[in-house]
Amino acid sequence: MSDAAPADSPGPHPKREIDLGAMPERARYGLLTSVVVPRPIAWVSSLDADGVPNLAPHSYFMILSTDPPILGFVSVGEKDTLRNIRETGDYVINIAGEHLIEALNLSSADFPSRESEFAWAGLTPEPSRHVRAPAVAEAAVALECRLREVVPYGNTPNYLIVGDVAHLRLAEAVVRDGRVAADLLRAVGRHGGPVYSRTADLFTLERPRYADMAARRPDGDS
Ligand SMILES: Cc1cc2nc3c(=O)[nH]c(=O)nc-3n(C[C@H](O)[C@H](O)[C@H](O)COP(=O)(O)O)c2cc1C
Repeated sequence: MSDAAPADSPGPHPKREIDLGAMPERARYGLLTSVVVPRPIAWVSSLDADGVPNLAPHSYFMILSTDPPILGFVSVGEKDTLRNIRETGDYVINIAGEHLIEALNLSSADFPSRESEFAWAGLTPEPSRHVRAPAVAEAAVALECRLREVVPYGNTPNYLIVGDVAHLRLAEAVVRDGRVAADLLRAVGRHGGPVYSRTADLFTLERPRYADMAARRPDGDS
């Protein structure tokens, strides 16, 4: 426990200044992955050139565009997922509910390329509509993606894998009133090290509009 005042107590707080560039890479990785949180997890299924299915979680993951729908995730170095996607040109991003977290974690182990994480994790490859890579049948969300480009970054290097979403498949069980309900999907967030968060204690907050705020401004003209 830190003996500093809690982060949500009234500030200002004593701060620590950190020069990321002067740190060893491992410590920098630890800090960045502890502050860019909670990260959604792309559970990426792909096929190798011989048709062996592969599955691995990637939490460097985000929406790059919705028109057209484009998603990006990062391979930290060269891995089976990246190699498969380069070879075949497609993959599926599955979103795991909390009940699948053990299987998701297991699929991150350093399996030899020829071993399928599907079999090890007791998961079922489900045929996709528009791509050759299978989805995880047990996961509620499958985003079928076609590779657009691979962009290298940094010294490792890392590879940003950018793909167009060709199709979305949703389990009926997570849909309420035509929308995906967060309390039904129960997605998991990644924090630093082995720390995860549940989708629990949800709340809603409407986005403010400047025009409304200006109209109510105590010292305003109106
Ligand atoms: C929750 C979680 C998130 C992860 N996120 C990433 C990531 O964003 N990028 C990455 O390269 N590896 C990430 N990993 C590690 C990979 O899953 C791991 O290296 C895996 O063995 C890669 O499998 P592959 O060689 O079959 O592609 C993550 C692991 C876990 C458990």
